[in-house]
Amino acid sequence: MDLGQVGTLEELRAAVEGFHGCALREGAQRTVFSDGNPAAEIMLIGEAPGAEEDRQGKPFVGRSGQLLDKMLLAIGLDRKSVYITNTIFWRPPDNRTPTPAETLSCRPFLLRHIALVKPKIIVLVGGTAVKSVLQTTDGIGKYRKRWMGFEVPGLAEPVAMMATFHPAYLLRNPPAKTDAWEDLKMLKKKAVELGVMEEEMVQ
Ligand code: URA
Repeated sequence: MDLGQVGTLEELRAAVEGFHGCALREGAQRTVFSDGNPAAEIMLIGEAPGAEEDRQGKPFVGRSGQLLDKMLLAIGLDRKSVYITNTIFWRPPDNRTPTPAETLSCRPFLLRHIALVKPKIIVLVGGTAVKSVLQTTDGIGKYRKRWMGFEVPGLAEPVAMMATFHPAYLLRNPPAKTDAWEDLKMLKKKAVELGVMEEEMVQ
């Protein structure tokens, strides 16, 4: 299928529902496509659905999602002001990390997803999103604390992209929340610069 012909998010969702090139779907209950506001200018890309996401069919609704919501709220964002998806649409067994082959199989959908949402800012949430989107084997440390320009087929301009820690990592390593807060401030600053958010409370 030529995903370049897919012109709406509903068509893309249908294309994902009809895709059998990723074996993970056979073990999952639901296809987890997205949550948030499709008109938002900030797009978050996480790793993969977990148990709660698989039950509800929405990304980031379990424990990690609750922390993600708190992180967003700390800079004045919520699910009405961001759009959220994952590198992969189905829960891996036992919540294992998706393999590079699994994320690669879904990557064309992810790229089309970005082209259809046309965000001004993309936030890669965690190392798996970094590896899948940037097609690298390097860890997240190499990509944090800086803005990248990400070129997407179908978009005229590169999209401003940054990486931050996955909330599941922050739940396991609370001291890293200090670094995550720096990332959030960096996100807010750029969002204000690009006119995506209004200036107010950045501390
Ligand atoms: N972790 C993710 O990366 N994505 C989800 O949707 C839930 C947990």
